[in-house]
Amino acid sequence: MRLRTGGRGRSDEAFRDVPLRDNWYQASSYWPSSFALVTTVDEHGETNVAPYQLSFPFEVIGGRSLLLISRQGSNTERNIKRTGVCSLNYVEFDRRALKKIVSLGYPGQSTAEKSGDNPYTLVSSPTSGREADGHRFPHLLGEAFQVYECSWDVDQPVRDDGATPEYFVLRIEHVLLKERWARNLGDEATAMPRMPITFGFRGGTQFWFAELRKPFMLRTPTDKGPKEEAILYEANRIDPDVAFTREACQQLTGIPRPFVKVALRGIITKAKERGVSVVDVEFVELVNAERQRSGSA
Ligand SMILES: Cc1cc2nc3c(=O)[nH]c(=O)nc-3n(C[C@H](O)[C@H](O)[C@H](O)COP(=O)(O)O)c2cc1C
Repeated sequence: MRLRTGGRGRSDEAFRDVPLRDNWYQASSYWPSSFALVTTVDEHGETNVAPYQLSFPFEVIGGRSLLLISRQGSNTERNIKRTGVCSLNYVEFDRRALKKIVSLGYPGQSTAEKSGDNPYTLVSSPTSGREADGHRFPHLLGEAFQVYECSWDVDQPVRDDGATPEYFVLRIEHVLLKERWARNLGDEATAMPRMPITFGFRGGTQFWFAELRKPFMLRTPTDKGPKEEAILYEANRIDPDVAFTREACQQLTGIPRPFVKVALRGIITKAKERGVSVVDVEFVELVNAERQRSGSA
C-alpha cells in the first residue's frame, strides 16, 4: 500500500496535547529511525536474529557505547544477560526482506521457530576471538554493510526493576564495515548506505517503514562560529595518539584552507618524534619558530 507523506508544517494549524502512552515514541508521536538486527547466541548455541529500533549511540566521545532497549523476556535480553555479548547488524533496504524482518520481530517465538524467517546468511565474525563458537559469540549477517560487535557493560546499569524494559549499555568493541563503506568514511564521502527506516509498531496491527530517498549533503557554513572549530575537528581525528587543544588550533586559523591538513600532519609528525601527545600553543609556536629558522637558513 502506497500512502501519502506529510507536507510542510503550517504555522496556522493548532497544536494538540496528546495522551502520553507507554512506548510514547511510536504510540504518541512519530520517531523514524534506523534499526539493528541484533544477533545473539541462544541456550542451544544457535544464533538468534531480532530487529531493534531502540538502539542508539550513547557515549560518543571517550567512551564508545550504545543503548539498547528490549522488552523483558525477549530472546535477545536473555541471551545478552547469559553471554554478555551481541552484534548489531545493519542491512540496506530490501522490501522483501522487510517482511521477514517483521516476522523475526513477532514476540514469543523461540530461535528455532524463527530461523526459517531469516532472509540473511549467517557468517562467522572475522574478528579474532569473536568467531561464532556455538556458545557465546553469535554469527553476523553476511549481507550487512555494518556491524557493531558489542559487550554488555554491567558497570553501567540504567534500571533493572523488573517493571520496565531492559536498558542495556553496550560497549562497542569493533565496528566492522564492508570494504566500500570503509573507503567512503574519509572527508569526501561519495555515497551513503541505503538504510531502511522504521516508524515502529503503530495502531496495534501495523509496522511502518520508509525508504530512504537520495541522500544529499550540505556544506557547513564557513562564516559562522569560532574560526578554529573546523581545524579542531579535523586535527583531532587524524591520529588517536595526538590531541590538539583549542588554543593551538586558534593559532592555526591563518593557514589557507587547502593547506590545513598538510600543516596538521606536519605538526603531528613532529609531535610524535618528540613523544608529545598534546599539541598546545607552545608546541605550535615551537614548530613555527623551527620552520622559520630552517626557511631563513
Ligand atoms: C523493525 C522492528 C523494530 C523493533 N524494535 C524493537 C525495540 O527497539 N525494542 C523492543 O523491545 N522490541 C522491538 N521490536 C520487537 C522485537 O523485535 C520483538 O520483541 C521480538 O520478539 C524480539 O525478538 P527476540 O525475542 O528474538 O529478541 C521491533 C520489531 C521490529 C519489526
